[in-house]
Amino acid sequence: MPEKPVPPILTTTAGSPWPDNQNSQSAGPRGPLLMQDYQLLEKLAHQNRERISERVVHAKGSGAYGTFTVTGDIRSYTCAKLFGEIGRTTDILIRFSTVAGERGAADAERDVRGFAVKFYTEEGNWDLVGNNTPVFFIRDPMKFPDFIRTQKRHPRSNLRSATAMWDFWSLSPESLHQVTILFSDRGLPQGYRHMNGYGSHTYSFWNEVRERYWVKFHFKTLDGHRHWTNQEAASVVAQDRESAQRDLYDAIERGNGPSWKVCVQIMPELEAEHTRYNPFDVTKVWPHDDYPLIEVGIARLNRNPDHYFAEIEQASFSPSNIVPGIGFSPDKMLQGRIFAYADAHRHRVGTHYEMLPVNRPINPARTYHADGAMRFDAPRGMDAYYEPNSFNGPVEQKWAQEPPLRISGDAARYDHRDGNDDYIQVRALFHLMNFAQRERLFGNIAAAMRGVPAEIVDRQVAHFARVDPDYALGVLEALAHQG
Ligand code: HEM
Repeated sequence: MPEKPVPPILTTTAGSPWPDNQNSQSAGPRGPLLMQDYQLLEKLAHQNRERISERVVHAKGSGAYGTFTVTGDIRSYTCAKLFGEIGRTTDILIRFSTVAGERGAADAERDVRGFAVKFYTEEGNWDLVGNNTPVFFIRDPMKFPDFIRTQKRHPRSNLRSATAMWDFWSLSPESLHQVTILFSDRGLPQGYRHMNGYGSHTYSFWNEVRERYWVKFHFKTLDGHRHWTNQEAASVVAQDRESAQRDLYDAIERGNGPSWKVCVQIMPELEAEHTRYNPFDVTKVWPHDDYPLIEVGIARLNRNPDHYFAEIEQASFSPSNIVPGIGFSPDKMLQGRIFAYADAHRHRVGTHYEMLPVNRPINPARTYHADGAMRFDAPRGMDAYYEPNSFNGPVEQKWAQEPPLRISGDAARYDHRDGNDDYIQVRALFHLMNFAQRERLFGNIAAAMRGVPAEIVDRQVAHFARVDPDYALGVLEALAHQG
């Protein structure tokens, strides 16, 4: 038998050798304990602080590291360094998640999946915090907290409420597109390796000559789409609540990490004024016939984190993290998210969350922010701790200023429903489904409507009818069949 290496010494958090980790200090063999046993007190106190609050949404997740490699040249649209010459590689971290379930929820549940990518570029971190669906349920961030409440537990029963969900959806027909995807096959992927990812929102690119283009991001699975039916998922959950975590982790350990073809859709800036739909509305897609997919690279995952809590639970993604060459768009939901995420991280992880190894950019971050709880870097020669200064402090980079957003209008609370059709694109999606896919859609919706008051069901079915009478009929038949 090979000789075991000498184990490292056990110490207190202050580094002092710790004599006994099994027996507390007591006045006699039968107790009582002594107040002076600081090591016991510290051990118990640390345990009390092991958890941080879970994410308010997307609490259950899995993540891994990998690379993004450029395969298509899009430098005419963006000067972002990561989209440089063919073959250029950037390290990435992807965290996948379900939306509604808590941190201990089962993976194989029907829900939208989060698909959050952090690109560690030489000009800072770019976070593309997307989902496995190209659209979303709502188009105004004012509605987000209410929407999420309908997905979480009822305040009195502490149970998930189908009534709340369908009440909200039936009163918010902009959700129809996403609801149709959620209850289709795509709403229950077999694992994170077998689904697409989408930036969902419209973002922008800007290039060396400061032209702006609108852009949507797509990650197409190269491992094939695979989905569970509701029945299959029920038996998966009965056996394994961590099915997606296990599938991803094991595949990477086997050297068989998943990959995606990364594509963009590009819209010249001024064309946005002439599309027949609002291109900044996240409940809509851009038809591929009008804006074909352009391949730009391959994303591949190849390394599991060493420590789940340190690297995945504390991973902090934010749509506000962009890099030169990439910009936002007027999309109201995106604008709301620019605020929400960094605020959530400061609350959940701490003021200096971006100094943690998983969140830290690979290039040095130099700011004039000061101090706060748990500042643990100690920059030297800090005469330049304010700005402007005469002491050679970090200076602003005017070239990194994006071109002006050419948008003008009167400040008002515009009704998000005006001029937005909620049915045309859903109809196109419904017409793409074959007979079996439609049958599963109807059955999944009917199952999710169990116990919902008739008035709410009727209101929702009326929306399905506006998409296509067959959609409404199918759901009604499935409801009748279910009894
Ligand atoms: C106004 C609308 C939205 C608001 C206010 C919002 C807010 C939040 C918040 C507060 C978190 C928790 C962050 C954390 O604690 O780490 C979160 C997580 C997340 N959101 Fe949103 N969200 C919105 C819409 C969306 C949309 C449209 C998408 C996808 C296109 C999305 C994708 C995600 C993902 C993937 C995560 C998990 C990120 C991770 O893995 O850490 N959210 N969201």
